[in-house]
Amino acid sequence: MTRFVNKVVIVTGAGGGIGSAISRRFAEEGAFVVVTDVNGEAASEVSSDIARSGGSAAAIAADISKGADCHDLIGQVHGRWRRIDVLVNNAGINRRGNLLALSDDDWHTTFAVNLHSMFHLCRAAIPHMIEAGGGAIVNTASQWGLHPAPNHIAYNTSKAAVAAFTQNLARDYAPQKIRVNAVCPGEIHTPMLEAGVKRSGRTIADLDRLVPFGRIGKPEEVAALVAFLASDEAAFMCGSLVEITGAQAVA
Ligand SMILES: NC(=O)c1ccc[n+]([C@@H]2O[C@H](COP(=O)([O-])OP(=O)(O)OC[C@H]3O[C@@H](n4cnc5c(N)ncnc54)[C@H](O)[C@@H]3O)[C@@H](O)[C@H]2O)c1
Repeated sequence: MTRFVNKVVIVTGAGGGIGSAISRRFAEEGAFVVVTDVNGEAASEVSSDIARSGGSAAAIAADISKGADCHDLIGQVHGRWRRIDVLVNNAGINRRGNLLALSDDDWHTTFAVNLHSMFHLCRAAIPHMIEAGGGAIVNTASQWGLHPAPNHIAYNTSKAAVAAFTQNLARDYAPQKIRVNAVCPGEIHTPMLEAGVKRSGRTIADLDRLVPFGRIGKPEEVAALVAFLASDEAAFMCGSLVEITGAQAVA
């Protein structure tokens, strides 16, 4: 498929499980991908891997929990490549705990990474999209933002806010042809999920059994959905929260 030829796509958290799959997917479909992560080494590995496979990418290290890094990142991309067609706000962290167990830092850092980054990155990118006549933004929420799992109050609340942010942004900028949608993944096999499984003493097989489809999801499956939402095939999708859970969300 060549849906993203001549397009510049930014993916945050692109050194991680889902973000690296999203980056590879866009590159396979012809995009120039800006692979960005706080872990610069991981971002460079993904970018080099894309280049080895014949795709086009550049790695930029940025800590998107900091407003200044967000504005610098968008400024650098627009300055060097002159366009921003797609922004994928994928980076996220998961600090486990109920209200009394969480530290102040857990709460504030979760919101800084999972939500405030989107505020800053979208504020910086949207003027360029308006100037270009449109664009697409795909945010990563979570099924837990819509149907909370226990003992993850900071994560779940931040993801519920991502869902609300997505709908508000879509409503405000649809007239400028900026389509904003969110994916709400269920259990997806990534380093974040592996860490959670280890902490809880469960196994991947235990999680597989919780999913009516019979297994947890793959990062590539989320990447396919993100690419669809960012593509012209989803031209009338704006303000949608799309669950991708193997029916766990309706179990
Ligand atoms: N894995 C799942 O089951 C699952 C389910 C629902 C939603 N999600 C969401 O999907 C997204 C990707 O998760 P994943 O499972 O691939 O996790 P991951 O831990 O594999 O990847 C997350 C990436 O984000 C990066 N990151 C963290 N803080 C950052 C910061 N301050 N600035 C820039 N980058 C930063 C990390 O370095 C990492 O590379 C997250 O938003 C997560 O909440 C994951």
